[in-house]
Amino acid sequence: MCGITAYCGNDLALPFLLQGLNKLEYRGYDSAGVTLLEDDGLVTVKCRGRLKNLEEKLSDYTLKGHIGIGHTRWATHGVPSNLNSHPHSNDDETISLVHNGIIENYRELKEELLEKGYHFQSETDSEVVVLLLDYYYDGDLFAATKKVLSRIEGSYALCIVSTFEPDKIIVARKDSPLVVGKVSNAYVAASDIPALLEYTKDVYFLNDYEMAVLEKDNIHFYSHDGKPIEKDMNTIPYDIEAAKKDGYEHFMLKEIYEQPRVINETLRGRIVNDKIILDELKDIDFSQFNKVYYVACGTAYHASLCGSQVLERVTKLPVIATVASEFRYNDPIVDEHTLAIFVSQSGETADTLAALRLAKAKGATTIAIANVLGSTISRDAHYVLYTCAGPEIAVASTKAYTTQLVLLILLAYYVAQKLNIEVNLQLIHELDTIPDYVNQLLADHDIYASWAKMLENLHDTYFIGRSLDYASVLEGALKLKEVSYVHADAYVAGELKHGPIALIEPGSVVIAVATQPHIAAKTISNIQETIARGARVILLTTEGQEVKNVENTYYLPKVSPTLQSILVAIPLQLLAYYTACIKGCDVDKPRNLAKSVTVE
Ligand code: M6R
Repeated sequence: MCGITAYCGNDLALPFLLQGLNKLEYRGYDSAGVTLLEDDGLVTVKCRGRLKNLEEKLSDYTLKGHIGIGHTRWATHGVPSNLNSHPHSNDDETISLVHNGIIENYRELKEELLEKGYHFQSETDSEVVVLLLDYYYDGDLFAATKKVLSRIEGSYALCIVSTFEPDKIIVARKDSPLVVGKVSNAYVAASDIPALLEYTKDVYFLNDYEMAVLEKDNIHFYSHDGKPIEKDMNTIPYDIEAAKKDGYEHFMLKEIYEQPRVINETLRGRIVNDKIILDELKDIDFSQFNKVYYVACGTAYHASLCGSQVLERVTKLPVIATVASEFRYNDPIVDEHTLAIFVSQSGETADTLAALRLAKAKGATTIAIANVLGSTISRDAHYVLYTCAGPEIAVASTKAYTTQLVLLILLAYYVAQKLNIEVNLQLIHELDTIPDYVNQLLADHDIYASWAKMLENLHDTYFIGRSLDYASVLEGALKLKEVSYVHADAYVAGELKHGPIALIEPGSVVIAVATQPHIAAKTISNIQETIARGARVILLTTEGQEVKNVENTYYLPKVSPTLQSILVAIPLQLLAYYTACIKGCDVDKPRNLAKSVTVE
């Protein structure tokens, strides 16, 4: 989704704006632009396409401004084009702004502005904001901004510059992320922390409806009604190195290889003498709940599917795992006896956030499982547990997924402990061994790369599994399709005969996961049914399973069945990665996708 940068200080603004936009590229975008406050007014340079197109265009300018705003756009209203790119300005170019989010009532505002004689250059919803600012400006930019914010509905992160008040940038947010940073010579702002890390680790998180006025040596924060407020500074616990490629060809590969370390980090201090320690949740009385919801999107939903099954098995509490975009519109049955768990790497996913707010409004106790410190979901939930995956830059989620699995398994056993249910201590001991097993699996990368050759020229593939393995194949299929564009469907293996087997023909590739002892043999017989119809199979299973006539069988290290979900993710992630590489795909920035889906 769109990325925003802003700089107000004593040094040149452009280098900060561009490096920040570069760090935000992972969010996905189709055009880019900047506005600089120069001695002779605002200068806006913007164009469709990648940042390098903008940089080429900028080489025709000498921009010396010390105040500026930047933007990468992910089209929502209006096609990707030079005119629809941000920043947007008023006619006489005295006010310019960048916007992330969606102005839901832009049509009626546009009508109103057209009637007042304004004309529009773009098809965007954002342009109404700058024209409204122009309309309401009466010698006080802050007052005009407040007025405009009271008129717009929807979501926004906004940064506004103006020649009328050339010493400041006004920023505001609602339902779209915005972080402000303190640099030795400036105040800066961005949509996400990686854009700031090269300059500072000292940040302020804006809450919904809050505004800030950035000046060179000063910052002022305001509540929704314009009253000054104090905000605490937070220090980000990782540095810029964590957001670099480290010699790997792609962020996705780097992040896959980081998994042993980040799983260790996520476990650190959370198992002591056979006990799970999640002190963040110590005040919750789990006996009050008669139902548990897990709500998330995409990969985080797949982790939730697994986590929910584990919780149900160990606590016998009824659980429902659902995608956030369904939960929020389906009038879920939630009350004060419901525990609702929201899983999100970014902590900014619009649907998950809306679902969280709905669950809270209906009286549920909410827990966020998030990766980004200070993210909106982590601040809005009653309780938060952090995965310790560090910044995940590749659009395809890998290390966030396995750390979510680890934390959700810990959570399930923690709840069981709090309910005085006897738990499987062997599994708790084995958790510590998982990082070593992950290393062992990573060492077999050549095997997964050889499987990728089987997929290179295929249009479709089929993933099958049962029980916890079903969540794993859903995730394997998602990974493959998003980075390699090979169409991949995941099925419960027992459903094959009810329809999907009609698709199997000589040369089809079936990727099967059979790691759950109570059901693996059934999946293995389903594989035979596909082989009989000409399919080529890649099977991931565990030692001891009887497997006959399967061309590519890979045996995973034997650990407790619940923990296999973590291990099996590694070959499936690398299979997707190598297939994307063979096909020459843009691995870290797949087409049409954004890292953080901050609009509905
Ligand atoms: O930041 P979140 O975990 O809330 O994001 C949820 C999904 O958008 C995300 O997992 C998406 O499916 C990824 N591209 C998967 O690799």
